[in-house]
Amino acid sequence: MPITPSIIKSIESLIEIEKSSVANMANISALLMAEANYHWVGFYTVDEENDELVLGPFQGPIACTRLRHGLGVCAKAWDDAKTVVVPDVNKFEGHVACSSHSNSELVIPVKVDGKVVAVLDIDSVEFNAFTRKEIKVLEKIVSKLEDRWEG
Ligand code: SME
Repeated sequence: MPITPSIIKSIESLIEIEKSSVANMANISALLMAEANYHWVGFYTVDEENDELVLGPFQGPIACTRLRHGLGVCAKAWDDAKTVVVPDVNKFEGHVACSSHSNSELVIPVKVDGKVVAVLDIDSVEFNAFTRKEIKVLEKIVSKLEDRWEG
Protein backbone atom coordinates (compact mmCIF):
# COMPACT_ATOMS: atom_id res chain seq x y z
CA MET A 1 0.00 0.00 0.00
CA PRO A 2 1.57 3.33 -0.98
CA ILE A 3 1.75 6.29 1.36
CA THR A 4 -1.21 8.67 0.88
CA PRO A 5 -1.69 12.33 1.98
CA SER A 6 -4.01 11.22 4.82
CA ILE A 7 -0.94 10.10 6.77
CA ILE A 8 0.25 13.72 7.09
CA LYS A 9 -2.52 14.48 9.60
CA SER A 10 -1.60 11.45 11.70
CA ILE A 11 2.06 12.47 11.71
CA GLU A 12 1.12 16.04 12.62
CA SER A 13 -0.92 14.95 15.61
CA LEU A 14 1.84 12.58 16.71
CA ILE A 15 4.63 15.11 16.67
CA GLU A 16 2.89 18.38 17.54
CA ILE A 17 2.77 17.35 21.20
CA GLU A 18 6.40 16.23 21.40
CA LYS A 19 9.60 18.24 21.15
CA SER A 20 12.14 15.42 21.22
CA SER A 21 13.49 14.85 17.71
CA VAL A 22 14.46 11.28 18.60
CA ALA A 23 10.93 10.49 19.76
CA ASN A 24 9.47 12.07 16.64
CA MET A 25 11.85 10.24 14.29
CA ALA A 26 10.99 6.99 16.08
CA ASN A 27 7.23 7.43 15.68
CA ILE A 28 7.51 8.63 12.08
CA SER A 29 9.53 5.51 11.23
CA ALA A 30 6.97 3.27 12.94
CA LEU A 31 4.01 4.94 11.27
CA LEU A 32 5.56 4.81 7.80
CA MET A 33 6.48 1.17 8.24
CA ALA A 34 2.94 0.33 9.40
CA GLU A 35 1.41 2.11 6.39
CA ALA A 36 3.64 0.93 3.59
CA ASN A 37 5.35 -2.23 2.60
CA TYR A 38 8.86 -0.81 2.89
CA HIS A 39 11.89 -2.95 3.62
CA TRP A 40 13.57 -0.39 5.88
CA VAL A 41 12.56 3.08 7.11
CA GLY A 42 14.66 5.25 9.33
CA PHE A 43 16.87 8.19 10.03
CA TYR A 44 20.56 8.91 10.06
CA THR A 45 21.64 12.04 11.92
CA VAL A 46 24.66 14.19 11.12
CA ASP A 47 27.63 13.64 13.42
CA GLU A 48 29.52 16.86 12.78
CA GLU A 49 32.46 16.00 14.95
CA ASN A 50 33.25 12.84 13.01
CA ASP A 51 31.95 14.16 9.67
CA GLU A 52 29.68 11.15 9.12
CA LEU A 53 26.10 10.01 9.48
CA VAL A 54 25.11 7.93 12.47
CA LEU A 55 22.13 5.58 12.68
CA GLY A 56 19.04 7.01 14.35
CA PRO A 57 15.56 5.62 15.02
CA PHE A 58 14.47 3.07 12.42
CA GLN A 59 12.21 0.12 11.62
CA GLY A 60 13.42 -2.94 9.76
CA PRO A 61 16.51 -5.12 9.68
CA ILE A 62 19.76 -4.17 11.42
CA ALA A 63 21.52 -1.47 9.41
CA CYS A 64 24.95 0.08 8.98
CA THR A 65 25.71 2.15 12.08
CA ARG A 66 27.83 4.83 10.42
CA LEU A 67 27.95 6.16 6.87
CA ARG A 68 30.99 7.97 5.55
CA HIS A 69 30.79 11.41 4.04
CA GLY A 70 30.99 11.19 0.24
CA LEU A 71 29.88 7.59 -0.11
CA GLY A 72 26.38 6.27 -0.76
CA VAL A 73 22.87 7.56 -1.24
CA CYS A 74 22.41 9.04 2.23
CA ALA A 75 25.70 10.93 2.00
CA LYS A 76 24.66 12.26 -1.41
CA ALA A 77 21.39 13.67 0.02
CA TRP A 78 23.41 15.16 2.89
CA ASP A 79 25.94 16.77 0.54
CA ASP A 80 23.43 18.08 -1.99
CA ALA A 81 20.78 18.94 0.62
CA LYS A 82 18.25 17.51 -1.84
CA THR A 83 16.02 14.48 -2.14
CA VAL A 84 17.74 11.57 -3.90
CA VAL A 85 15.63 8.93 -5.66
CA VAL A 86 17.39 5.75 -6.76
CA PRO A 87 15.15 3.46 -8.86
CA ASP A 88 17.81 0.72 -8.97
CA VAL A 89 20.46 0.75 -6.25
CA ASN A 90 22.69 -1.58 -8.27
CA LYS A 91 23.19 1.26 -10.73
CA PHE A 92 24.15 3.84 -8.10
CA GLU A 93 27.91 4.03 -7.81
CA GLY A 94 29.02 3.82 -4.20
CA HIS A 95 25.65 2.61 -2.92
CA VAL A 96 26.11 1.25 0.61
CA ALA A 97 24.27 -2.08 0.74
CA CYS A 98 23.21 -2.57 4.35
CA SER A 99 20.81 -5.24 3.09
CA SER A 100 21.04 -7.29 -0.08
CA HIS A 101 17.23 -7.23 -0.35
CA SER A 102 17.00 -3.52 -1.15
CA ASN A 103 16.49 -2.65 -4.79
CA SER A 104 15.37 0.97 -4.72
CA GLU A 105 15.92 3.77 -2.26
CA LEU A 106 14.70 7.24 -1.38
CA VAL A 107 16.58 9.67 0.84
CA ILE A 108 15.15 13.04 1.97
CA PRO A 109 17.32 15.50 3.91
CA VAL A 110 16.02 17.08 7.12
CA LYS A 111 17.09 20.73 7.02
CA VAL A 112 17.06 23.20 9.87
CA ASP A 113 18.19 26.80 9.28
CA GLY A 114 19.47 25.72 5.86
CA LYS A 115 21.67 22.98 7.29
CA VAL A 116 21.15 19.23 6.93
CA VAL A 117 20.78 17.74 10.42
CA ALA A 118 19.54 14.28 9.44
CA VAL A 119 18.18 12.25 6.53
CA LEU A 120 15.09 10.08 6.16
CA ASP A 121 16.12 6.90 4.35
CA ILE A 122 13.63 4.42 2.86
CA ASP A 123 14.53 1.14 1.16
CA SER A 124 12.24 -1.06 -0.90
CA VAL A 125 12.70 -4.56 -2.25
CA GLU A 126 10.88 -3.43 -5.40
CA PHE A 127 12.67 -1.64 -8.19
CA ASN A 128 11.44 1.90 -8.85
CA ALA A 129 9.15 1.73 -5.81
CA PHE A 130 8.58 5.43 -5.16
CA THR A 131 5.95 7.40 -7.07
CA ARG A 132 6.22 11.15 -7.49
CA LYS A 133 3.06 11.64 -5.41
CA GLU A 134 4.46 9.49 -2.62
CA ILE A 135 7.76 11.39 -2.61
CA LYS A 136 5.81 14.67 -2.22
CA VAL A 137 3.92 13.28 0.78
CA LEU A 138 7.15 12.04 2.37
CA GLU A 139 8.80 15.43 1.81
CA LYS A 140 5.84 17.06 3.52
CA ILE A 141 6.26 14.74 6.50
CA VAL A 142 9.94 15.69 6.69
CA SER A 143 8.98 19.37 6.63
CA LYS A 144 6.75 18.77 9.68
CA LEU A 145 9.72 17.20 11.47
CA GLU A 146 11.90 20.16 10.48
CA ASP A 147 9.34 22.56 12.00
CA ARG A 148 9.52 20.68 15.32
CA TRP A 149 13.28 19.96 15.29
CA GLU A 150 15.21 20.40 18.52
CA GLY A 151 18.95 19.83 18.18
N1 SME B 1 21.91 2.47 1.24
C1 SME B 1 22.31 3.56 2.08
C2 SME B 1 22.83 3.08 3.40
C3 SME B 1 21.81 3.01 4.48
S1 SME B 1 20.81 1.66 4.39
O1 SME B 1 20.09 1.64 3.15
C4 SME B 1 19.77 1.55 5.68
C5 SME B 1 23.34 4.42 1.37
O2 SME B 1 23.80 4.08 0.28
O3 SME B 1 23.68 5.47 1.91
